[in-house]
Amino acid sequence: MTPINKVILDKNTSINPIWIMRQAGRYLPEFREIRSKNKDFIKLCLDENLSSEITLQPLKRFNLDAAIIFSDILMLPYALNQKVEFKKNFGPILGDLDISLASKYDEIDFIRKIFPVYKAIKKVSNNDLLKEKNTIGFVGAPWTLLVYILNKQSPKKKIKDNFFKDQFLINRILDLLDKFLKIHIKNQIENGANIIQIFDSWAGLLEGKDLPNYVYIPTLSLVDYVKSLNIPVICFPRGISNYKNYCEIVKPDVIGIDYDIDPKKIIKEIDIPVQGGLDPKTLLTDKENLKKQATRYLKIFKDHPYIFNLGHGVLPETDPNMMEYLVNIVKDFK
Ligand code: CP3
Repeated sequence: MTPINKVILDKNTSINPIWIMRQAGRYLPEFREIRSKNKDFIKLCLDENLSSEITLQPLKRFNLDAAIIFSDILMLPYALNQKVEFKKNFGPILGDLDISLASKYDEIDFIRKIFPVYKAIKKVSNNDLLKEKNTIGFVGAPWTLLVYILNKQSPKKKIKDNFFKDQFLINRILDLLDKFLKIHIKNQIENGANIIQIFDSWAGLLEGKDLPNYVYIPTLSLVDYVKSLNIPVICFPRGISNYKNYCEIVKPDVIGIDYDIDPKKIIKEIDIPVQGGLDPKTLLTDKENLKKQATRYLKIFKDHPYIFNLGHGVLPETDPNMMEYLVNIVKDFK
């Protein structure tokens, strides 16, 4: 059994597997080299040779316990024919979703648009570097994708008041997302993904009263679906304050925590395996501080099933040597 599965399935507390969100990315010079020659991010994700190579880059350097496939949560709106572009120093910019066209799409139309993503997963999961390790597939949560589909860029701190105006449209989009996210999950698993992570990066924008409709109900539908395929599911609802409620209702196999969450409070409230937490900015400080902060998490979760990770993606300005140092701290912790 892989170290991560031992934590999730056996609730093993004596090992601390580690992988890092955005572990394949701009902090690695070998990624920047490929990226500089491939200006179109979507095209890069759809090149199975390059995207599988990028996925494996961090595993060649560091003793990580999982690969996360180099792709993006916005490949889903892209596959539904919504225009998706990435502008340097700005982030994603989307066009309008043609909902009547997307509603006519079937599984074959969808897969045809992003087939190389599945080929890349197959290549990665068959690579020798993945022996005794997990291949993590992922999707954006319905709420976070709804935000991108309607807002057409990353939202600022607050969602605009008129966002919820067209309830009919919102419900049509949520229906569509439920259908195609399940198709996307199923195809990732069929091609070798053996864990699914659901990223709800904008869950924190909602008021508590809106969580049931936009977060709990649509996410539960996906969690139940992943479980029905006998694959563990990790949920990362970034920015919400009531993790206890979330876990009781959505029931993921693992809960990912962001860096604003007090790990000591989590330990008291939650008994499922926990992942992550350390502030990515800690990697920008010095080794002494990094060791102190990482060890703090390891000590707090000493008797709790715990997968080491950050509380959000690794920052592009991170020194790869600091990443190596972090992985060794986690691996050497007794
Ligand atoms: O974690 C990994 O290493 C796997 C690959 C991965 C990417 N995006 C690659 C990527 C994953 C899991 C994602 C998820 C994703 N994408 C999320 C959820 C996690 C989170 O960050 O909250 C979100 C919200 C997106 C949407 C997205 N994609 C944004 C906002 C941006 C621009 C911001 C940025 O970091 O540049 C992207 C682009 C993106 N996705 C990059 C990478 C490596 C950077 C592309 C580049 O090289 O310019």
